Amino acid sequence: MQKIRKAVIPVAGFGTRFLPATKATPKEMMPIVDKPIIQYIVEEAVASGIETIIFVTGRHKRAIEDHFDYAPELEHALERAGKEEYVNIIREISDMADFVYIRQKEQLGLGHAILTAEHIVGNEPFAVLLGDELIINEENPGIKQLIDVYKKFGKSVIGTTDVPREETYKYGIIEGSEIERGIRLVNYLVEKPEPHEAPSTSAIIGRYVLTPNIFDALKRTPFGKGGELQLTDALMLLRQEEVIYSKDIEGIRHDTGNKLGYIKAILDFALRRPDTKDFVKELILEQAEKLKEEANSQT
Ligand code: UTP
Repeated sequence: MQKIRKAVIPVAGFGTRFLPATKATPKEMMPIVDKPIIQYIVEEAVASGIETIIFVTGRHKRAIEDHFDYAPELEHALERAGKEEYVNIIREISDMADFVYIRQKEQLGLGHAILTAEHIVGNEPFAVLLGDELIINEENPGIKQLIDVYKKFGKSVIGTTDVPREETYKYGIIEGSEIERGIRLVNYLVEKPEPHEAPSTSAIIGRYVLTPNIFDALKRTPFGKGGELQLTDALMLLRQEEVIYSKDIEGIRHDTGNKLGYIKAILDFALRRPDTKDFVKELILEQAEKLKEEANSQT
C-alpha cells in the first residue's frame, strides 16, 4: 500500500463571505490570534506525516506563497534588533514541508481545483484539506485519523461529523453503513441537500484521503450545483466503481469560512493560549456583565 505523502490544499476560492477583507487578501491568511488559518492547516498535515503540500491557488493569493517562503530581509532585521526568537518562528514555517503551487485559472469549484493538481499528485493516493476548516486535536490530528483508516482498508476516506438536521444545506452529506464505531461504508453522497431531503446528518467537513481514481471520476462528472464541478458528485461516481469509507473526525472543529465561525475560532484559541487566556476571559466576563446590566435596565 502506498504511503500518503502529498496533500492538496485548495485555496483558490473568492471568499465572498468575507468581503471586503478578501478583496486583495486571501481568507486563508486571516489570523487566529497571531497565526494565519492556513498555517494551522499545514501544521496538521505535517503532524500527520505529509511531506509535500500542493496549494491550488488563484489571483490575489500571493501572500500564501510569501508566507511559506524564506524572508531574508525580515530575518536580518530581526537579528539586528536582537529578536532571535522571532527569527526561528518565521524560518520554521518555510522548513515544515516542500511547497508546490499551481494556479486554478477559473474558479469552477472544489472538484475542479483538485483536478488542477492531477499532474503534481500523479498516480498515488493523497490527502485533501480545505483551507478554511480548522480541526484541533493535538494527540491525533484530523487528517491523520483518515490516513489511519486508509492504511487499514486501502480506499478513499471522507472526514465527517454529525450536524443538526436544519444545517444539512451547508454541507455534502453522506449516507453509510457503520462497520466500526465512527467508520462507515459510504452508500450515497449528496451536495448541500435541504433538511427534508438529506439522507442523514453525517456531514463532510473538509478532510479527505483519495485514491488517484478520483481524477478520472472528476473528468466524467458534469458541472453540478452552482455551475461548479463538485467533488461530492465525483465521489458518488467513484463510489459506483470502488468502495469509499467515511470516518467521524474526533476533535474540535471550526468553520472559519464565515464571520461567526471565525469569531468563535478566535475566542476559542485565545481562551486556550497561556499568553491571552486571562485577558480574554476577563474581557468576556466584563462584556457579559454589561449585557446583563443593559438587559436589566430595559425591563
Ligand atoms: P468555499 O465553498 O468556501 O468557497 O470553498 P470560497 O470561494 O472559498 O468562499 P465563499 O463561499 O465565496 O465565501 C471551499 C474550499 O474550496 C476552495 C476554497 O478556496 C475553499 O478552501 N475552492 C473553491 C477552490 O480552490 N476553487 C474553487 O473554484 C472553489
